[in-house]
Amino acid sequence: MQDHAAESERAARLQLAQVLLHAGNNAGALEQFAAVLGQNPTDTDALAGAAMCCDALGDSRRAAEYRRILSALGTSAPDDTMKASAESSELGDEVIPPAESPPQLDTSWLRPRLRMVPEPEPGDSVPAAEVSVTTLEDVAGMEAVKRRLNTAFLGPLRNPELRSLYGKSLRGGLLLFGPPGCGKTFLARATAGELGAKFISVGLFDVLDMWLGESERHIHEIFESVRRSAPAVLFFDEIDGLGRKRSQLKYSGGRTLVNQLLAELDGVDAANDGIFVLGASNSPWDVDPALLRPGRFDRLILVLPPDEKARAAILRLHLRGRPADDVDVPWIAARTPGFSGADLAHLCESAAEIAMEASLAAAKIRPITTTDFKTCLRDLKPSTRQWFETARNYVMFANEGGQYDELLAYMRTNKLL
Ligand SMILES: Nc1ncnc2c1ncn2[C@@H]1O[C@H](COP(=O)(O)OP(=O)(O)OP(=O)(O)O)[C@@H](O)[C@H]1O
Ligand SMILES: [Mg+2]
Repeated sequence: MQDHAAESERAARLQLAQVLLHAGNNAGALEQFAAVLGQNPTDTDALAGAAMCCDALGDSRRAAEYRRILSALGTSAPDDTMKASAESSELGDEVIPPAESPPQLDTSWLRPRLRMVPEPEPGDSVPAAEVSVTTLEDVAGMEAVKRRLNTAFLGPLRNPELRSLYGKSLRGGLLLFGPPGCGKTFLARATAGELGAKFISVGLFDVLDMWLGESERHIHEIFESVRRSAPAVLFFDEIDGLGRKRSQLKYSGGRTLVNQLLAELDGVDAANDGIFVLGASNSPWDVDPALLRPGRFDRLILVLPPDEKARAAILRLHLRGRPADDVDVPWIAARTPGFSGADLAHLCESAAEIAMEASLAAAKIRPITTTDFKTCLRDLKPSTRQWFETARNYVMFANEGGQYDELLAYMRTNKLL
């Protein structure tokens, strides 16, 4: 029964992803593929789709990660190779022993294929620490978010005396949440830049490994390496994938992954000193509640679509270096409520394309104009709407403890309820 529901959800998400891809909404489609992967990280359809979206969004590192897993699974495998092969007993020429009960993450039959992938070197799973050059000054608008980051995190970190006076430890982390493309990752990087701390970004595929027990080892290695390079900001992007509610997980491997993450976050008191953990999620309601308890990702910060001032700044940022002196940025900013930073970047790309085509036709440079933007705006809709539609149910019916009050207020003001 439950399996049937999960399968229908998977089919619906994949279909929705197709529609979104068709409409050019790569970020939206990626979100759907990621949700399918959250349930089953070896879903080859979702992996292939996600890789394609990441390419389109310019995130080649993540695209390569998806492809790495795809190739480990044997690229052209049909979507439920795992299930089908476990149930029947054939996979091409290989004879697979019949499974007695449907295996969850029994990947032993995959091993011959996995040998195609080079064995990881020790420490391979630890993402490189970067020194972030982005600071909060680069983040346009978002005054409320910046204020909260300052009180909850930057202030205490910069003032050890004050911290000890109030008995405030450096434990705990923030969870940035909100619609896709609105600057969560950007803010996390800016926070590290602000502190001059190292920034280590961990995605689902930095951790995920087909080998049983390996994912947990990766998490442990990452924490160990970060402990050595403190002060550092350890950023878990898309934490809902990594720390999905254990009750929702179909594969048992995911449960031990959450447990390992919890153990590392709790650490021994001194061990995690100087590490500040940030997480980001588009669906905090799917995150295991244990991860949101005190000392873990205990403060939620809502990252909303940019306001008018921020939209103008983002547009200017993306028009920099392009022939666009006459573009009426405030006019566009006023007409793009609900657009995410990523939507605005896409809008600038599309307007630039029109001007480029005109330049090619006329064989001389034709600058980008406000009219080009008007033309594009006829077809472009803010991608955040769909997120708010999903959020609606949680905000109205699962707002225990009032953790979504701010979101509720925003949705009321903006008539999104
Ligand atoms: N306030 C802002 N000021 C300047 N640029 C911004 C701002 N918000 C978003 N952007 C731009 O939008 C891009 C997308 O933002 P980012 O990748 O951080 O979104 P996200 O919330 O992490 O999305 P996802 O949920 O899809 O991971 C950034 O690379 C940045 O260029
Ligand atoms: Mg992000």
